[in-house]
Amino acid sequence: MGRLDGKVALIAGASSGIGRATATLFAREGAKLVLGARRQAELDALAAEIGAAGGTAAVLAGDVRDEDYARTLTALALDRFGRLDIAFNNAGTLGEKGPSTGVSAQGWADTLAVNLTGAFFGAKHQIGAMLKTGGGSVIFTSTFVGYTTAFPGLAAYAASKSGLIGLTQALASEFGPQGIRVNAVLPGAVETEMYREANDTPEAQSFITGLHALKRVGAPEELARSVLYLASDDSSFVSGTAHLVDGGLSITRT
Ligand SMILES: NC(=O)c1ccc[n+]([C@@H]2O[C@H](COP(=O)([O-])OP(=O)(O)OC[C@H]3O[C@@H](n4cnc5c(N)ncnc54)[C@H](O)[C@@H]3O)[C@@H](O)[C@H]2O)c1
Repeated sequence: MGRLDGKVALIAGASSGIGRATATLFAREGAKLVLGARRQAELDALAAEIGAAGGTAAVLAGDVRDEDYARTLTALALDRFGRLDIAFNNAGTLGEKGPSTGVSAQGWADTLAVNLTGAFFGAKHQIGAMLKTGGGSVIFTSTFVGYTTAFPGLAAYAASKSGLIGLTQALASEFGPQGIRVNAVLPGAVETEMYREANDTPEAQSFITGLHALKRVGAPEELARSVLYLASDDSSFVSGTAHLVDGGLSITRT
Protein backbone atom coordinates (compact mmCIF):
# COMPACT_ATOMS: atom_id res chain seq x y z
CA MET A 1 0.00 0.00 0.00
CA GLY A 2 1.38 3.39 -1.00
CA ARG A 3 0.43 6.57 0.81
CA LEU A 4 -0.75 8.11 -2.48
CA ASP A 5 -2.51 5.08 -3.99
CA GLY A 6 -5.35 6.19 -6.27
CA LYS A 7 -4.21 9.83 -6.26
CA VAL A 8 -3.25 11.97 -9.24
CA ALA A 9 -0.46 14.49 -8.61
CA LEU A 10 0.87 17.34 -10.75
CA ILE A 11 4.40 18.68 -10.18
CA ALA A 12 5.60 21.89 -11.87
CA GLY A 13 9.39 22.18 -11.75
CA ALA A 14 9.90 18.41 -11.77
CA SER A 15 12.97 18.04 -13.99
CA SER A 16 15.67 18.37 -11.32
CA GLY A 17 16.41 18.89 -7.64
CA ILE A 18 13.53 18.91 -5.15
CA GLY A 19 10.84 18.45 -7.82
CA ARG A 20 12.55 15.41 -9.35
CA ALA A 21 13.05 13.75 -5.96
CA THR A 22 9.40 14.42 -5.12
CA ALA A 23 8.20 12.93 -8.42
CA THR A 24 10.19 9.76 -7.78
CA LEU A 25 8.86 9.45 -4.22
CA PHE A 26 5.24 10.19 -5.21
CA ALA A 27 5.45 7.49 -7.91
CA ARG A 28 6.81 4.97 -5.39
CA GLU A 29 3.89 5.88 -3.10
CA GLY A 30 1.38 5.02 -5.83
CA ALA A 31 0.43 8.39 -7.40
CA LYS A 32 -0.14 8.81 -11.11
CA LEU A 33 1.85 11.85 -12.21
CA VAL A 34 1.77 14.83 -14.52
CA LEU A 35 5.20 16.46 -14.62
CA GLY A 36 6.17 19.87 -15.99
CA ALA A 37 9.39 21.90 -16.26
CA ARG A 38 11.36 23.77 -18.91
CA ARG A 39 13.42 20.88 -20.29
CA GLN A 40 11.64 18.17 -22.29
CA ALA A 41 14.64 15.82 -22.42
CA GLU A 42 15.01 15.75 -18.62
CA LEU A 43 11.27 15.18 -18.24
CA ASP A 44 11.34 12.31 -20.76
CA ALA A 45 14.23 10.69 -18.90
CA LEU A 46 12.39 11.02 -15.58
CA ALA A 47 9.18 9.57 -17.04
CA ALA A 48 11.15 6.61 -18.42
CA GLU A 49 12.79 6.03 -15.02
CA ILE A 50 9.41 6.16 -13.27
CA GLY A 51 7.87 3.87 -15.88
CA ALA A 52 10.70 1.34 -15.52
CA ALA A 53 10.03 1.23 -11.78
CA GLY A 54 6.34 0.45 -12.39
CA GLY A 55 4.91 3.99 -12.10
CA THR A 56 3.02 6.22 -14.54
CA ALA A 57 3.98 9.76 -15.55
CA ALA A 58 2.79 12.07 -18.32
CA VAL A 59 5.16 14.95 -19.07
CA LEU A 60 4.95 18.28 -20.85
CA ALA A 61 7.64 20.96 -21.05
CA GLY A 62 6.72 24.63 -20.89
CA ASP A 63 7.16 27.89 -19.05
CA VAL A 64 5.14 28.57 -15.89
CA ARG A 65 5.03 32.28 -16.80
CA ASP A 66 2.52 31.32 -19.49
CA GLU A 67 -1.00 30.82 -18.13
CA ASP A 68 -1.85 28.58 -21.11
CA TYR A 69 0.84 26.17 -19.95
CA ALA A 70 -0.75 25.99 -16.48
CA ARG A 71 -4.13 25.35 -18.08
CA THR A 72 -2.68 22.64 -20.33
CA LEU A 73 -0.87 20.82 -17.51
CA THR A 74 -4.09 20.58 -15.50
CA ALA A 75 -6.00 19.49 -18.62
CA LEU A 76 -3.39 16.77 -19.16
CA ALA A 77 -4.10 15.40 -15.67
CA LEU A 78 -7.84 15.36 -16.35
CA ASP A 79 -7.50 13.87 -19.86
CA ARG A 80 -5.04 11.14 -18.87
CA PHE A 81 -6.19 10.29 -15.35
CA GLY A 82 -9.65 11.83 -14.91
CA ARG A 83 -8.94 13.90 -11.80
CA LEU A 84 -6.38 15.95 -9.88
CA ASP A 85 -5.77 15.49 -6.15
CA ILE A 86 -2.34 16.98 -5.45
CA ALA A 87 -0.42 19.88 -7.00
CA PHE A 88 3.16 20.82 -6.14
CA ASN A 89 4.02 24.23 -7.59
CA ASN A 90 7.78 24.01 -7.20
CA ALA A 91 9.22 25.78 -10.27
CA GLY A 92 11.50 28.58 -9.22
CA THR A 93 14.41 30.79 -10.15
CA LEU A 94 16.90 32.81 -8.14
CA GLY A 95 16.27 35.60 -10.61
CA GLU A 96 18.33 38.72 -10.89
CA LYS A 97 20.80 39.01 -8.04
CA GLY A 98 22.95 41.93 -6.90
CA PRO A 99 22.57 45.33 -5.31
CA SER A 100 18.91 46.34 -5.38
CA THR A 101 19.71 49.77 -6.76
CA GLY A 102 20.92 48.03 -9.93
CA VAL A 103 18.13 45.50 -10.46
CA SER A 104 16.55 45.91 -13.89
CA ALA A 105 12.80 46.25 -14.39
CA GLN A 106 12.91 43.11 -16.56
CA GLY A 107 14.89 41.12 -13.96
CA TRP A 108 12.48 42.09 -11.21
CA ALA A 109 9.43 41.29 -13.36
CA ASP A 110 10.83 37.94 -14.55
CA THR A 111 11.61 36.77 -11.02
CA LEU A 112 8.10 37.55 -9.82
CA ALA A 113 6.61 36.08 -13.00
CA VAL A 114 8.23 32.67 -12.44
CA ASN A 115 8.14 32.40 -8.65
CA LEU A 116 4.86 34.10 -7.78
CA THR A 117 2.65 34.66 -10.80
CA GLY A 118 3.55 31.27 -12.30
CA ALA A 119 2.63 29.54 -9.05
CA PHE A 120 -0.64 31.45 -8.96
CA PHE A 121 -1.51 30.47 -12.56
CA GLY A 122 -0.83 26.86 -11.61
CA ALA A 123 -3.00 26.94 -8.49
CA LYS A 124 -5.81 28.76 -10.26
CA HIS A 125 -6.32 25.92 -12.75
CA GLN A 126 -5.46 23.10 -10.35
CA ILE A 127 -7.99 24.29 -7.78
CA GLY A 128 -10.61 24.63 -10.52
CA ALA A 129 -10.12 20.91 -11.25
CA MET A 130 -10.00 19.88 -7.59
CA LEU A 131 -13.29 21.62 -6.84
CA LYS A 132 -15.00 19.14 -9.18
CA THR A 133 -13.91 16.13 -7.12
CA GLY A 134 -14.38 17.52 -3.63
CA GLY A 135 -10.94 18.60 -2.51
CA GLY A 136 -7.20 18.31 -2.79
CA SER A 137 -3.82 19.49 -1.58
CA VAL A 138 -1.87 22.37 -3.15
CA ILE A 139 1.74 22.97 -2.11
CA PHE A 140 4.02 25.86 -3.03
CA THR A 141 7.79 25.94 -2.65
CA SER A 142 8.76 29.10 -0.78
CA THR A 143 12.06 29.47 1.14
CA PHE A 144 13.61 30.69 4.37
CA VAL A 145 14.96 33.67 2.41
CA GLY A 146 12.76 36.64 3.20
CA TYR A 147 10.89 34.74 5.93
CA THR A 148 13.29 33.87 8.73
CA THR A 149 16.55 35.08 7.20
CA ALA A 150 17.57 37.85 4.83
CA PHE A 151 20.58 38.23 2.56
CA PRO A 152 21.73 41.29 0.63
CA GLY A 153 21.31 41.09 -3.12
CA LEU A 154 18.26 38.81 -3.23
CA ALA A 155 15.40 41.32 -3.05
CA ALA A 156 13.40 39.99 -6.02
CA TYR A 157 13.77 36.38 -4.88
CA ALA A 158 12.80 37.23 -1.28
CA ALA A 159 9.81 39.33 -2.36
CA SER A 160 8.51 36.70 -4.78
CA LYS A 161 8.91 33.82 -2.35
CA SER A 162 7.44 35.58 0.67
CA GLY A 163 4.56 36.57 -1.61
CA LEU A 164 3.89 32.84 -1.90
CA ILE A 165 3.22 32.68 1.84
CA GLY A 166 0.50 35.33 1.52
CA LEU A 167 -0.88 33.45 -1.48
CA THR A 168 -0.88 30.22 0.55
CA GLN A 169 -2.91 31.83 3.32
CA ALA A 170 -5.34 33.53 0.93
CA LEU A 171 -6.09 30.34 -1.03
CA ALA A 172 -6.26 28.17 2.11
CA SER A 173 -8.85 30.55 3.52
CA GLU A 174 -10.83 30.83 0.29
CA PHE A 175 -11.02 27.13 -0.59
CA GLY A 176 -10.83 25.44 2.82
CA PRO A 177 -14.63 25.17 2.96
CA GLN A 178 -14.49 23.05 -0.22
CA GLY A 179 -11.90 20.65 1.18
CA ILE A 180 -8.82 22.13 -0.47
CA ARG A 181 -5.73 22.44 1.71
CA VAL A 182 -2.96 24.85 0.70
CA ASN A 183 0.50 24.91 2.30
CA ALA A 184 3.96 26.23 1.54
CA VAL A 185 7.13 24.25 2.15
CA LEU A 186 10.15 26.37 3.13
CA PRO A 187 13.41 24.51 2.47
CA GLY A 188 16.73 25.47 3.99
CA ALA A 189 19.66 25.14 1.61
CA VAL A 190 19.29 21.96 -0.44
CA GLU A 191 21.95 20.40 -2.66
CA THR A 192 20.53 21.16 -6.14
CA GLU A 193 21.39 23.09 -9.31
CA MET A 194 19.92 26.23 -7.77
CA TYR A 195 21.98 25.80 -4.59
CA ARG A 196 25.17 25.53 -6.68
CA GLU A 197 24.18 28.65 -8.65
CA ALA A 198 23.50 30.62 -5.44
CA ASN A 199 26.62 29.36 -3.65
CA ASP A 200 29.24 29.11 -6.36
CA THR A 201 32.41 29.15 -4.24
CA PRO A 202 33.66 26.84 -1.44
CA GLU A 203 33.52 29.86 0.92
CA ALA A 204 29.87 30.55 0.09
CA GLN A 205 28.98 26.87 0.58
CA SER A 206 30.80 26.75 3.89
CA PHE A 207 29.02 29.92 5.06
CA ILE A 208 25.55 28.68 4.18
CA THR A 209 26.21 25.22 5.62
CA GLY A 210 27.27 26.80 8.91
CA LEU A 211 23.96 28.66 9.23
CA HIS A 212 22.09 25.38 9.68
CA ALA A 213 21.87 23.97 13.21
CA LEU A 214 22.56 20.54 11.69
CA LYS A 215 25.74 21.92 10.05
CA ARG A 216 24.89 20.45 6.68
CA VAL A 217 22.62 21.29 3.78
CA GLY A 218 19.60 19.17 2.92
CA ALA A 219 19.21 16.46 0.30
CA PRO A 220 16.36 16.77 -2.23
CA GLU A 221 14.95 13.47 -0.91
CA GLU A 222 14.57 15.00 2.57
CA LEU A 223 12.42 17.77 1.12
CA ALA A 224 10.45 15.24 -0.91
CA ARG A 225 9.44 13.42 2.28
CA SER A 226 8.04 16.65 3.75
CA VAL A 227 6.16 17.40 0.55
CA LEU A 228 4.73 13.86 0.72
CA TYR A 229 3.47 14.64 4.23
CA LEU A 230 1.73 17.82 3.02
CA ALA A 231 0.32 16.00 -0.01
CA SER A 232 -1.00 12.94 1.80
CA ASP A 233 -3.85 12.44 4.24
CA ASP A 234 -1.25 12.37 7.06
CA SER A 235 -1.61 16.18 7.02
CA SER A 236 -5.41 16.20 6.73
CA PHE A 237 -5.77 18.96 9.38
CA VAL A 238 -2.86 21.09 8.10
CA SER A 239 -3.66 24.11 5.93
CA GLY A 240 -2.39 27.64 5.43
CA THR A 241 1.02 26.87 6.92
CA ALA A 242 4.56 27.97 6.14
CA HIS A 243 6.22 24.61 6.77
CA LEU A 244 9.94 25.02 7.51
CA VAL A 245 12.18 22.12 6.50
CA ASP A 246 15.45 23.88 7.10
CA GLY A 247 17.83 21.85 9.25
CA GLY A 248 17.41 24.37 12.06
CA LEU A 249 18.56 27.34 9.99
CA SER A 250 15.79 29.57 11.32
CA ILE A 251 16.87 29.15 14.97
CA THR A 252 20.46 30.09 14.22
CA ARG A 253 21.54 33.70 14.57
CA THR A 254 24.89 34.79 13.23
N1 LIG B 1 18.01 24.47 -3.38
C1 LIG B 1 17.79 25.30 -2.37
O1 LIG B 1 18.68 25.55 -1.55
C2 LIG B 1 16.42 25.91 -2.20
C3 LIG B 1 16.13 26.53 -0.98
C4 LIG B 1 14.87 27.10 -0.78
C5 LIG B 1 13.93 27.03 -1.80
N2 LIG B 1 14.23 26.43 -2.98
C6 LIG B 1 13.19 26.39 -4.02
O2 LIG B 1 13.01 25.03 -4.40
C7 LIG B 1 12.42 25.00 -5.72
C8 LIG B 1 13.13 23.94 -6.53
O3 LIG B 1 14.46 24.35 -6.77
P1 LIG B 1 15.71 23.36 -6.73
O4 LIG B 1 16.58 23.82 -5.65
O5 LIG B 1 15.25 21.96 -6.76
O6 LIG B 1 16.45 23.81 -8.08
P2 LIG B 1 16.48 23.25 -9.54
O7 LIG B 1 17.13 24.31 -10.34
O8 LIG B 1 17.07 21.89 -9.57
O9 LIG B 1 14.94 23.10 -9.97
C9 LIG B 1 14.17 24.18 -10.45
C10 LIG B 1 13.01 23.61 -11.26
O10 LIG B 1 12.16 24.69 -11.67
C11 LIG B 1 11.97 24.61 -13.07
N3 LIG B 1 11.77 25.95 -13.62
C12 LIG B 1 12.52 27.05 -13.41
N4 LIG B 1 12.02 28.09 -14.10
C13 LIG B 1 10.93 27.61 -14.77
C14 LIG B 1 10.00 28.19 -15.66
N5 LIG B 1 10.05 29.49 -16.02
N6 LIG B 1 9.01 27.40 -16.15
C15 LIG B 1 8.92 26.09 -15.82
N7 LIG B 1 9.77 25.49 -14.96
C16 LIG B 1 10.76 26.25 -14.46
C17 LIG B 1 13.21 23.96 -13.61
O11 LIG B 1 12.97 23.42 -14.89
C18 LIG B 1 13.47 22.91 -12.54
O12 LIG B 1 12.65 21.78 -12.78
C19 LIG B 1 12.55 26.41 -6.27
O13 LIG B 1 11.27 27.04 -6.23
C20 LIG B 1 13.49 27.10 -5.31
O14 LIG B 1 13.29 28.49 -5.23
C21 LIG B 1 15.45 25.87 -3.20
